[in-house]
Amino acid sequence: MNENGADLLGRPLVNKDAGFTEAERDEQGLRGLLPWRVATLSEQVALELEHLRRKPDDLERYIGLAALQDRNEVLFHRLLADHLEELAPVVYTPVVGEACRRFSHIIRRPRGVWITPEDIDRIPELLRNTGRPDVRLIVATDNERILGLGDLGAGGMGIGVGKLALYSAGAGVHPALTLPVSLDVGTNNPDLRADPLYLGYPKPRLRGAEYEEFVDHFVNAVASVYPRAVLQWEDFKQHNALMLLSRYRHRIPSFNDDIQGTAAVVLAGILVAMRGTGQRLADQRIVILGAGAAGIGIARLLGLLLRDSGADPGERITMLDSHGLLYRGRQGITEDKAPFAATADLMRKYRFTPEGQIDLATVVRSVRPTILIGASGVGGTFTEEAIKLMAERAPVPIVLPLSNPTSNSEATPADVLRWSGGRALVATGSPFAPVPVNGQLRVIGQANNVFVFPGVGLGAIASGAYEISDRMFLVAARTLAEQVDRDRFAEGALYPRLSDLRAVSRAIAVDVVAEAQHNGIARAAHGTSPEAAVDAAIWNPGY
Ligand code: NAI
Repeated sequence: MNENGADLLGRPLVNKDAGFTEAERDEQGLRGLLPWRVATLSEQVALELEHLRRKPDDLERYIGLAALQDRNEVLFHRLLADHLEELAPVVYTPVVGEACRRFSHIIRRPRGVWITPEDIDRIPELLRNTGRPDVRLIVATDNERILGLGDLGAGGMGIGVGKLALYSAGAGVHPALTLPVSLDVGTNNPDLRADPLYLGYPKPRLRGAEYEEFVDHFVNAVASVYPRAVLQWEDFKQHNALMLLSRYRHRIPSFNDDIQGTAAVVLAGILVAMRGTGQRLADQRIVILGAGAAGIGIARLLGLLLRDSGADPGERITMLDSHGLLYRGRQGITEDKAPFAATADLMRKYRFTPEGQIDLATVVRSVRPTILIGASGVGGTFTEEAIKLMAERAPVPIVLPLSNPTSNSEATPADVLRWSGGRALVATGSPFAPVPVNGQLRVIGQANNVFVFPGVGLGAIASGAYEISDRMFLVAARTLAEQVDRDRFAEGALYPRLSDLRAVSRAIAVDVVAEAQHNGIARAAHGTSPEAAVDAAIWNPGY
């Protein structure tokens, strides 16, 4: 067929730029529209890398990459897949945060679907307007808790775009099967509301029954327009995150990465530490600082594995929030926190008085944790006193300050290592440089959710799973842990390198398919091996 060459160059999913062959140039009306040379994909990658590296700062690199994605998706994803260590932090956190914040002012070509309260009765129509007939993976946010930056209004779209780019580059989900959605229910961010050039819905946030009705319409629209899609809930504020997950997880295949993906990534790091130090999870005493979406998710998944191994999660896990230790009868113990609130028996065992605020150092002194996890969102909350108390009793303290960005980390790895006499195993939420300990460099692994969600999503798609179960995240954690070899652990790291992401994602996807088949929740992949099902679903960016 004689395509109009100019149209072809404007379609990012099929455009090859200088990669069009001589024959294609003749057949598809491209003669004269491209410079003479036919470039290979790797030559194009080299050129793009040169363009990017010349840019003055990371936000400009983000904008450059977005422009490339809008022009040539194969090239964009090949570049990202081949240079994940360098470019994942630009396409996703931390740089994407700044891009979301300034979204109205940097957006070139819109991508994804924005749905406002005015659209409540026509959401299926909006989804069909994308022209995408077979979406299998949706990342949806209501923009209220974008990374550690709060309510970013319509700019939250950047998060879905970034996560889906990682799904495609890091696991091989075809970009045509993906769709980012911003549930633009308004914003309470005063800077955005005061900005005359803000492009989002400039009303106060929808709340209560109206909000819930809106989300319900959205879920119904997804189920009717894209019945085979997996829905990832992303960056909702704590209460809505937990509420929406439990409301919809059995209705459509859906999960919340902040709750479940984080949990799997943290559990994987702990399993690596257990294996490396020859210990059992069931023997650990775990303290979690922060009882929000991340903290509760971690406690739930750890609880599942502890129960499997015959231990009582209530005895093994101790949690604190901004009001100190969670204990029964304390104020502010919500339904989600209640399962992790210390019982009267435990309070007696630890000699805690059930009144007022019981702080971290007090908890550490009595509980004597072997594992300390930070999901508080507040920098410096792992105090010197708390870490030193922990290190007095734990031969190898496992310390995971997860909060992002870097300035919110509960402690720096260098401090934790200093306060623990170099004995701690440390992994963080934000990237940190290696720390010198006794003349050796200790690599600090990053508990990055990207090690989990692309593989889980790919596995769910390949198996056509009816639902995304907690067991899938348990499987993902175990498989991720297996991907950290002895040499990597010997360097000090509890996580793989980002450059290994495609192999890690494939391994997780294979085990997720096997889990779906085993539990009878797979709609597809019957009579196929998990490996074959996953390999058939993987897209390799190439011409
Ligand atoms: P959230 O807002 O839902 O929960 C925060 C929790 O910390 C609340 O329970 C709050 O009461 C508690 N808290 C606040 N100040 C505290 C203090 N001074 N001491 C003790 N507890 C305190 O937030 P979410 O979504 O749970 O995220 C928490 C942090 O975890 C964020 O900084 C986020 O960046 C990080 N995170 C890291 C991930 C990773 O490393 N892969 C993944 C997801 C989240």
